Amino acid sequence: MDLLTLKTWTPEEILATVEEGLEVKAHPRRYGEALKGQTLAMLFQKTSTRTRCAFEVGMTQLGGHAIYLDWRSTNFLLADLKDEAQVLSRYADGIMARMLKHEDLRQLAAGAEVPLINGCCDRYHPCQALGDLMTVWEIQGKLDGAHLVYVGIRNNVCNSLIAACTKVGVRITAVTPEVNGPSEDAELVAEARSTGLFEETLDLNGAIRDADFLYTDTWVDMEFFLDPEQEAEKERRVQVFTPYQINAKVLRRTRALVMHCLPAHKGYEVTAEVMASPRCVAVDQAENRLHVQKAVLMRLLGNE
Ligand code: CP
Repeated sequence: MDLLTLKTWTPEEILATVEEGLEVKAHPRRYGEALKGQTLAMLFQKTSTRTRCAFEVGMTQLGGHAIYLDWRSTNFLLADLKDEAQVLSRYADGIMARMLKHEDLRQLAAGAEVPLINGCCDRYHPCQALGDLMTVWEIQGKLDGAHLVYVGIRNNVCNSLIAACTKVGVRITAVTPEVNGPSEDAELVAEARSTGLFEETLDLNGAIRDADFLYTDTWVDMEFFLDPEQEAEKERRVQVFTPYQINAKVLRRTRALVMHCLPAHKGYEVTAEVMASPRCVAVDQAENRLHVQKAVLMRLLGNE
C-alpha cells in the first residue's frame, strides 16, 4: 500500500489513520517498538522542516531509523528513477519522497518494491491533510459536520484537503481566485462536488459566516524573493490575493479558528497579528504531523 494521494484511500482508511494518530499522541510509549529495526529512506528534491523532522523523529520514536537523502547528493539525479527506487527498496522498508512533480513520484512508485509515501509534490500533500484532519478532530471532538474554509491559491495542500474532507464528512469551501497550474485536478473537483460537501465561492465574508476553521497557505513562492525576473509575477499575485488575506478584520467577522500548514509568509496570505493570536492553531497542526505520520508509517510498514 502506498500514500501518493488521498484520492485512492477509502474513508475508512483515512478515519482509522487519523484516529490512530490521536491514539499515538495520547500513548506514545505503547508504540516504542512498533517499527523496531525498520528503515525509512527519505528523498528530498525540495527543502523541508516539518515533513523531514516529523518523519525522522517519528521513525526513531517507533524504534526504527530514517535516512535523509538530499536529491542532489544521490545518483537519482543521473539515473532512471524507477531503477533507483527499486534498488532503494532492497535497503529500506519504506520510501518517503518530496518530489517537485507528481509524475516523478509515479515513476518512483513504478520501481519501488516497498511502500511509498508522498511527502508533498506539485499536486498533493496528503500527510499535511491527515495532520489537519487530526487537528480538527482534536478540537471539535469529531470530524463529521465540521466546516473548513480554505482561502488563497488552489494548490497541493488545498487539493489534499478537498479529497480528505469530502471523504470523512467535513464540509469544505474553497475561496480560491486562482489554481496553481500543476494543481489543476478536474477529476478531484468533480468527485468532491458529487459528495455535496464541497463548495466554491469568491465571497469570503459569506463563506466564513458559519466556518469552524479558516485555512490559508502561501501564494508567494520562494523564487519571488530570490529571482528579480519573478518580481512582476509576485506583484500580480499580491494584487489578486491580498483582498483574501486573513487579518484581524476578517477574524472579527467569524468565530473560526485559523489554520496554516506553515511556513507562513506574514504580511501576505496572513498577518503576523493573526498568526500570533490564540485563535491560530498552526503549531498544533505542525505537531500533529508527527503523530499522524507515525500512524501512516505503522499502517504502511507495520506487520499487522
Ligand atoms: N507544511 C510542510 O510540509 O512543511 P515543510 O515544507 O517544512 O515540510
